[in-house]
Amino acid sequence: MKRSVEEHAARFSEKAAEYDDSNTEEYRACADLVVAHADPGPDDVVADLGAGTGAIALALASDASHVLARDVSEGMMEQGRRKASEARITNVEFAYGEFREPNLADADPVDVVTSNFALHHLSDAEKREAIEVMAGTDARRVVLGDVMFFEQPDPDAPFYSPEVDDPATVGTLVEAFTAVGFAVVAVERVHDQVGVIVAERLDADGEE
Ligand SMILES: C[S@@+](CC[C@H](N)C(=O)[O-])C[C@H]1O[C@@H](n2cnc3c(N)ncnc32)[C@H](O)[C@@H]1O
Repeated sequence: MKRSVEEHAARFSEKAAEYDDSNTEEYRACADLVVAHADPGPDDVVADLGAGTGAIALALASDASHVLARDVSEGMMEQGRRKASEARITNVEFAYGEFREPNLADADPVDVVTSNFALHHLSDAEKREAIEVMAGTDARRVVLGDVMFFEQPDPDAPFYSPEVDDPATVGTLVEAFTAVGFAVVAVERVHDQVGVIVAERLDADGEE
């Protein structure tokens, strides 16, 4: 991680009020794909990690039983809570949770994990730990949208801020999911530096 968790939290809290107005076309395409692939059923509990102001958590609320939205930035979650209240959404819980300690212990078993545009703040080793934690829930599906490299990134057109962000290659992420007993069933390329990975848990026979 190029900044501490606390520094990332403070950085996002500072820009939380403007965050929703600052996003790119690629971010929106990625978020739409995460929502579409998450596809929870009415009894499903979703954990949205790095939930920010709730782009994914709030979009999934009407399809799921409830959504556990976790983030490290109180400022971002405050915006999320405000939006939930304005939209009269009552089944999304925003609470502090770091990727590797997402604070899901007392919650119902999780069926689907989502994360959008957040995991790239961690180093590759930390991302692997976070993916192990996702696999340690009961989730049958994990949908990860993020900055990720499909090929060598163009150094003149980075889609990220090298001083604070640390994106992985798609191969590194796919390997991290397969190492914890998941099959990658879809990879969506939004941009050469933005994509969505859909991973499904294999059963004991290695079947999805
Ligand atoms: C670019 S925002 C994305 C928010 C939201 N998922 C979306 O799609 O709009 C990244 C979020 O990741 C959160 N974040 C950064 N590092 C984190 C960590 N180690 N654990 C959990 N959340 C983290 C930030 O606080 C921020 O809210």
